[in-house]
Amino acid sequence: MKEMLLEIKDLHVQIAGREVVSGINLSLRQGDRMVLLGQNGSGKTSLIMAIMGFPSYEVTEGDILFKGKSILGLAIDQRAKLGLGILFQRPPTVRGIKLRQMIEMTSGKKNFDLEKEAGRLAMTEFLGRDLNLGFSGGEMKRSELLQVIAQDPQVVLFDEPESGVDLENIALMGTIIDEFLKKKDRAALIITHTGYILDYVKADLGCVLADKRLHCVQEPRKIIGDIRKYGYDKCVKCRK
Ligand SMILES: Nc1ncnc2c1ncn2[C@@H]1O[C@H](COP(=O)(O)OP(=O)(O)OP(=O)(O)O)[C@@H](O)[C@H]1O
Ligand SMILES: [Mg+2]
Repeated sequence: MKEMLLEIKDLHVQIAGREVVSGINLSLRQGDRMVLLGQNGSGKTSLIMAIMGFPSYEVTEGDILFKGKSILGLAIDQRAKLGLGILFQRPPTVRGIKLRQMIEMTSGKKNFDLEKEAGRLAMTEFLGRDLNLGFSGGEMKRSELLQVIAQDPQVVLFDEPESGVDLENIALMGTIIDEFLKKKDRAALIITHTGYILDYVKADLGCVLADKRLHCVQEPRKIIGDIRKYGYDKCVKCRK
Protein backbone atom coordinates (compact mmCIF):
# COMPACT_ATOMS: atom_id res chain seq x y z
CA MET A 1 0.00 0.00 0.00
CA LYS A 2 1.35 3.43 -0.94
CA GLU A 3 2.10 5.98 1.78
CA MET A 4 -0.79 8.10 3.03
CA LEU A 5 0.13 11.74 2.48
CA LEU A 6 -2.92 13.88 3.14
CA GLU A 7 -6.06 13.07 5.14
CA ILE A 8 -8.98 15.43 5.60
CA LYS A 9 -11.35 14.36 8.36
CA ASP A 10 -14.81 15.81 8.87
CA LEU A 11 -13.51 19.24 7.92
CA HIS A 12 -15.62 22.34 8.56
CA VAL A 13 -14.38 25.70 7.27
CA GLN A 14 -15.78 29.18 7.89
CA ILE A 15 -15.03 32.44 6.11
CA ALA A 16 -16.09 35.66 7.78
CA GLY A 17 -18.32 33.66 10.13
CA ARG A 18 -20.09 31.77 7.31
CA GLU A 19 -19.62 28.01 6.89
CA VAL A 20 -18.48 27.13 3.35
CA VAL A 21 -17.22 23.58 3.89
CA SER A 22 -19.15 21.25 6.14
CA GLY A 23 -17.92 17.78 7.03
CA ILE A 24 -15.57 16.90 4.18
CA ASN A 25 -13.51 13.70 4.22
CA LEU A 26 -10.85 12.85 1.67
CA SER A 27 -7.47 11.22 1.52
CA LEU A 28 -4.57 11.22 -0.90
CA ARG A 29 -1.90 8.54 -1.00
CA GLN A 30 1.30 8.74 -3.03
CA GLY A 31 0.46 8.89 -6.71
CA ASP A 32 -3.22 9.75 -6.20
CA ARG A 33 -4.68 12.45 -8.40
CA MET A 34 -8.11 13.64 -7.43
CA VAL A 35 -10.18 16.09 -9.46
CA LEU A 36 -12.44 18.52 -7.63
CA LEU A 37 -15.40 19.96 -9.51
CA GLY A 38 -18.19 22.27 -8.42
CA GLN A 39 -20.17 25.40 -9.21
CA ASN A 40 -18.72 28.87 -8.78
CA GLY A 41 -18.79 29.76 -5.11
CA SER A 42 -19.23 26.15 -3.96
CA GLY A 43 -16.13 26.31 -1.71
CA LYS A 44 -13.39 24.58 -3.75
CA THR A 45 -10.82 27.34 -3.28
CA SER A 46 -11.83 27.68 0.39
CA LEU A 47 -11.15 23.99 0.94
CA ILE A 48 -7.62 24.11 -0.45
CA MET A 49 -6.82 27.47 1.17
CA ALA A 50 -7.82 25.89 4.51
CA ILE A 51 -5.61 22.87 3.78
CA MET A 52 -2.71 25.24 3.06
CA GLY A 53 -3.42 27.17 6.29
CA PHE A 54 -4.54 30.63 5.18
CA PRO A 55 -5.87 32.22 8.38
CA SER A 56 -9.06 33.73 6.94
CA TYR A 57 -10.25 30.20 6.15
CA GLU A 58 -11.01 29.10 9.68
CA VAL A 59 -11.17 25.40 10.50
CA THR A 60 -13.93 25.11 13.10
CA GLU A 61 -14.18 21.30 13.25
CA GLY A 62 -12.33 18.27 11.97
CA ASP A 63 -8.67 17.68 11.22
CA ILE A 64 -6.06 17.84 8.46
CA LEU A 65 -3.26 15.28 8.66
CA PHE A 66 -0.04 15.24 6.67
CA LYS A 67 1.74 11.87 6.81
CA GLY A 68 -0.37 10.94 9.82
CA LYS A 69 0.21 14.11 11.89
CA SER A 70 -2.20 16.98 12.38
CA ILE A 71 -1.01 20.19 10.72
CA LEU A 72 -3.81 22.39 12.05
CA GLY A 73 -1.45 24.20 14.41
CA LEU A 74 1.11 24.90 11.67
CA ALA A 75 1.54 28.15 9.73
CA ILE A 76 1.50 28.25 5.92
CA ASP A 77 5.30 28.23 5.57
CA GLN A 78 5.61 25.27 7.94
CA ARG A 79 3.05 23.34 5.89
CA ALA A 80 4.98 24.25 2.73
CA LYS A 81 8.22 23.00 4.28
CA LEU A 82 6.54 19.69 5.12
CA GLY A 83 5.67 19.23 1.45
CA LEU A 84 2.35 20.91 0.69
CA GLY A 85 2.22 23.18 -2.34
CA ILE A 86 -0.45 25.30 -3.99
CA LEU A 87 -1.00 26.78 -7.44
CA PHE A 88 -3.28 29.74 -6.80
CA GLN A 89 -6.43 30.48 -8.76
CA ARG A 90 -5.66 34.19 -8.45
CA PRO A 91 -2.11 34.76 -7.19
CA PRO A 92 -1.32 38.15 -5.67
CA THR A 93 0.83 40.80 -7.34
CA VAL A 94 3.93 41.58 -5.31
CA ARG A 95 5.66 44.83 -6.25
CA GLY A 96 9.37 45.00 -5.47
CA ILE A 97 9.92 41.24 -5.56
CA LYS A 98 11.08 39.71 -8.81
CA LEU A 99 9.89 36.27 -9.88
CA ARG A 100 13.52 35.08 -9.75
CA GLN A 101 13.91 36.31 -6.14
CA MET A 102 10.65 34.65 -5.11
CA ILE A 103 11.79 31.33 -6.53
CA GLU A 104 15.24 31.63 -4.95
CA MET A 105 13.59 32.29 -1.56
CA THR A 106 11.09 29.47 -1.74
CA SER A 107 12.85 26.76 -3.74
CA GLY A 108 12.92 23.43 -1.96
CA LYS A 109 15.62 21.93 -4.17
CA LYS A 110 19.34 22.57 -3.74
CA ASN A 111 20.20 21.87 -7.36
CA PHE A 112 17.12 23.38 -9.01
CA ASP A 113 18.01 24.47 -12.55
CA LEU A 114 15.95 27.65 -12.75
CA GLU A 115 17.12 28.68 -16.22
CA LYS A 116 16.22 25.29 -17.69
CA GLU A 117 12.80 25.02 -16.02
CA ALA A 118 11.92 28.65 -16.82
CA GLY A 119 12.90 27.99 -20.44
CA ARG A 120 10.63 24.96 -20.67
CA LEU A 121 7.70 27.06 -19.46
CA ALA A 122 8.63 30.04 -21.68
CA MET A 123 9.15 32.13 -18.54
CA THR A 124 12.79 33.20 -18.95
CA GLU A 125 11.98 36.82 -19.79
CA PHE A 126 9.65 37.07 -16.77
CA LEU A 127 12.25 36.14 -14.13
CA GLY A 128 13.38 39.77 -13.87
CA ARG A 129 9.86 41.20 -13.57
CA ASP A 130 7.95 42.02 -10.38
CA LEU A 131 5.88 39.02 -9.36
CA ASN A 132 2.69 38.96 -11.43
CA LEU A 133 2.81 42.71 -12.10
CA GLY A 134 1.13 43.08 -15.48
CA PHE A 135 1.40 39.34 -16.19
CA SER A 136 -1.37 38.14 -18.50
CA GLY A 137 -3.73 35.45 -17.19
CA GLY A 138 -1.81 32.63 -18.87
CA GLU A 139 1.61 34.05 -17.94
CA MET A 140 0.51 34.14 -14.30
CA LYS A 141 -0.44 30.45 -14.40
CA ARG A 142 2.88 29.46 -15.97
CA SER A 143 4.67 31.53 -13.34
CA GLU A 144 2.68 29.74 -10.62
CA LEU A 145 3.62 26.36 -12.07
CA LEU A 146 7.30 27.32 -12.21
CA GLN A 147 7.15 28.30 -8.52
CA VAL A 148 5.41 25.05 -7.58
CA ILE A 149 8.03 22.98 -9.42
CA ALA A 150 10.81 24.91 -7.67
CA GLN A 151 9.23 24.27 -4.26
CA ASP A 152 9.21 20.53 -4.94
CA PRO A 153 6.09 19.65 -2.87
CA GLN A 154 4.88 16.08 -2.34
CA VAL A 155 1.22 17.06 -2.37
CA VAL A 156 0.10 19.74 -4.82
CA LEU A 157 -3.19 21.64 -4.69
CA PHE A 158 -3.89 22.95 -8.20
CA ASP A 159 -6.61 25.62 -8.28
CA GLU A 160 -7.80 25.85 -11.90
CA PRO A 161 -4.36 25.53 -13.49
CA GLU A 162 -5.74 25.92 -17.03
CA SER A 163 -8.18 28.76 -16.51
CA GLY A 164 -7.32 31.65 -18.83
CA VAL A 165 -4.57 29.61 -20.51
CA ASP A 166 -4.51 29.24 -24.32
CA LEU A 167 -4.80 25.77 -25.86
CA GLU A 168 -1.11 25.40 -26.71
CA ASN A 169 -0.07 26.44 -23.24
CA ILE A 170 -2.59 24.06 -21.66
CA ALA A 171 -0.79 21.29 -23.54
CA LEU A 172 2.59 22.60 -22.37
CA MET A 173 1.53 23.02 -18.73
CA GLY A 174 -0.40 19.75 -18.67
CA THR A 175 2.54 17.75 -20.00
CA ILE A 176 4.90 19.35 -17.48
CA ILE A 177 2.44 18.83 -14.59
CA ASP A 178 1.96 15.16 -15.48
CA GLU A 179 5.71 14.58 -15.65
CA PHE A 180 6.27 16.50 -12.39
CA LEU A 181 3.66 14.43 -10.54
CA LYS A 182 5.03 11.16 -11.91
CA LYS A 183 8.61 11.88 -10.97
CA LYS A 184 8.26 11.49 -7.21
CA ASP A 185 4.91 9.72 -7.18
CA ARG A 186 3.41 12.94 -5.83
CA ALA A 187 -0.26 13.35 -4.94
CA ALA A 188 -2.48 16.09 -6.35
CA LEU A 189 -5.87 17.66 -5.87
CA ILE A 190 -6.85 19.37 -9.12
CA ILE A 191 -9.67 21.88 -9.35
CA THR A 192 -11.03 22.35 -12.86
CA HIS A 193 -14.28 23.46 -14.48
CA THR A 194 -13.71 22.28 -18.02
CA GLY A 195 -11.42 19.29 -17.51
CA TYR A 196 -9.17 20.45 -20.40
CA ILE A 197 -6.09 19.81 -18.28
CA LEU A 198 -7.14 16.15 -17.98
CA ASP A 199 -6.19 15.63 -21.64
CA TYR A 200 -2.61 15.74 -20.37
CA VAL A 201 -2.77 15.02 -16.63
CA LYS A 202 -4.10 11.55 -15.95
CA ALA A 203 -6.58 11.39 -13.09
CA ASP A 204 -9.08 8.63 -12.46
CA LEU A 205 -10.92 9.91 -9.44
CA GLY A 206 -13.20 12.94 -9.34
CA CYS A 207 -15.75 14.43 -6.98
CA VAL A 208 -18.13 17.35 -6.83
CA LEU A 209 -18.29 19.90 -4.05
CA ALA A 210 -21.92 20.91 -3.58
CA ASP A 211 -24.01 21.79 -0.54
CA LYS A 212 -20.64 22.23 1.26
CA ARG A 213 -19.92 18.48 0.92
CA LEU A 214 -18.30 16.07 -1.51
CA HIS A 215 -20.54 14.02 -3.78
CA CYS A 216 -20.40 11.72 -6.72
CA VAL A 217 -17.02 10.00 -6.53
CA GLN A 218 -16.41 8.76 -10.09
CA GLU A 219 -14.19 9.02 -13.13
CA PRO A 220 -13.80 12.80 -13.64
CA ARG A 221 -14.66 12.90 -17.35
CA LYS A 222 -17.86 10.95 -16.65
CA ILE A 223 -18.83 13.53 -14.02
CA ILE A 224 -18.07 16.44 -16.38
CA GLY A 225 -20.19 14.78 -19.08
CA ASP A 226 -23.06 14.32 -16.61
CA ILE A 227 -22.83 17.92 -15.43
CA ARG A 228 -23.08 19.15 -19.04
CA LYS A 229 -26.13 16.95 -19.55
CA TYR A 230 -27.99 17.22 -16.26
CA GLY A 231 -26.42 20.11 -14.31
CA TYR A 232 -24.82 20.10 -10.86
CA ASP A 233 -28.05 19.33 -9.01
CA LYS A 234 -27.92 15.73 -10.14
CA CYS A 235 -24.63 15.21 -8.28
CA VAL A 236 -26.24 16.14 -4.98
CA LYS A 237 -29.30 13.98 -5.60
CA CYS A 238 -27.27 11.07 -6.92
CA ARG A 239 -24.90 10.90 -3.86
CA LYS A 240 -22.76 8.09 -5.24
N1 LIG B 1 -13.35 36.94 2.52
C1 LIG B 1 -14.58 36.51 2.24
N2 LIG B 1 -15.69 37.07 2.81
C2 LIG B 1 -16.92 36.61 2.55
N3 LIG B 1 -17.18 35.59 1.72
C3 LIG B 1 -16.14 35.00 1.14
C4 LIG B 1 -14.80 35.40 1.34
N4 LIG B 1 -13.98 34.61 0.64
C5 LIG B 1 -14.79 33.74 -0.01
N5 LIG B 1 -16.09 33.96 0.28
C6 LIG B 1 -17.26 33.25 -0.26
O1 LIG B 1 -17.12 31.87 -0.02
C7 LIG B 1 -17.78 31.14 -1.05
C8 LIG B 1 -16.86 30.06 -1.58
O2 LIG B 1 -15.84 30.67 -2.34
P1 LIG B 1 -14.72 29.86 -3.08
O3 LIG B 1 -13.72 30.84 -3.59
O4 LIG B 1 -14.22 28.80 -2.19
O5 LIG B 1 -15.53 29.20 -4.29
P2 LIG B 1 -15.04 28.30 -5.51
O6 LIG B 1 -15.77 27.00 -5.43
O7 LIG B 1 -13.56 28.25 -5.54
O8 LIG B 1 -15.60 29.12 -6.76
P3 LIG B 1 -14.97 29.40 -8.24
O9 LIG B 1 -15.29 28.18 -9.07
O10 LIG B 1 -15.74 30.59 -8.71
O11 LIG B 1 -13.52 29.66 -8.08
C9 LIG B 1 -18.20 32.16 -2.09
O12 LIG B 1 -19.57 32.43 -1.94
C10 LIG B 1 -17.37 33.39 -1.76
O13 LIG B 1 -17.98 34.60 -2.13
MG1 LIG C 1 -12.13 28.95 -6.77
